[in-house]
Amino acid sequence: MNVFEAIVNRRSVRSYTGEPVTDDELDRLLTAANCAPIASARFHSKHLTVITDKALLSEIEEAFGRYTGRADAHPLYNAPLFVLVSVQMADPLLPHDDWLNVLCSDAAIIVQNMALEAVELGLGTCHIWGAVRAIKADPALPGKLGLPEGFTPVCGAIFGKSETPYEERDLRRGRFGVNTIG
Ligand SMILES: Cc1cc2nc3c(=O)[nH]c(=O)nc-3n(C[C@H](O)[C@H](O)[C@H](O)COP(=O)(O)O)c2cc1C
Repeated sequence: MNVFEAIVNRRSVRSYTGEPVTDDELDRLLTAANCAPIASARFHSKHLTVITDKALLSEIEEAFGRYTGRADAHPLYNAPLFVLVSVQMADPLLPHDDWLNVLCSDAAIIVQNMALEAVELGLGTCHIWGAVRAIKADPALPGKLGLPEGFTPVCGAIFGKSETPYEERDLRRGRFGVNTIG
């Protein structure tokens, strides 16, 4: 599989067997994350939380249920691994308003690097944002994540084995408006 095939065939997987991700697979995902381009190489202001603890995954789902009023929702889709990306919001070197844009771009690239590597490994993956909102809104959950002081979760992704394999997808074109100057 080349990079373009991984990009084209990736899709959001929302059904998992629950089987654990192996240590080697996790190592590859985290290595892919660490290869992400990061603005001004400010690696210290990003933090990854690897969550495989079933009780904590359930707590996150319950928090989502309370937050949205949808108690039967399963925003993590029974995936055995949730990697949460947090950023240090206040960067003493740069004005907050400018920096927030960059921090979130960095975090999104980290997640997408892991997602593309998951496709190569044959693991299902889905970007997760809804559950991140629920975590932040919950009075107890942020304190259970073991985050360094001043870090806030901004995005994440789930990973795991799935019975729905990746298939060759049609090339998608024309989804975004594009204007050309020149
Ligand atoms: C920043 C971001 C946040 C997302 N959050 C969620 C989420 O919380 N739950 C979910 O099921 N899908 C989530 N998605 C997946 C999108 O719904 C999905 O990428 C989109 O519908 C296109 O489908 P595809 O990924 O299969 O191509 C998110 C995607 C992105 C990029």
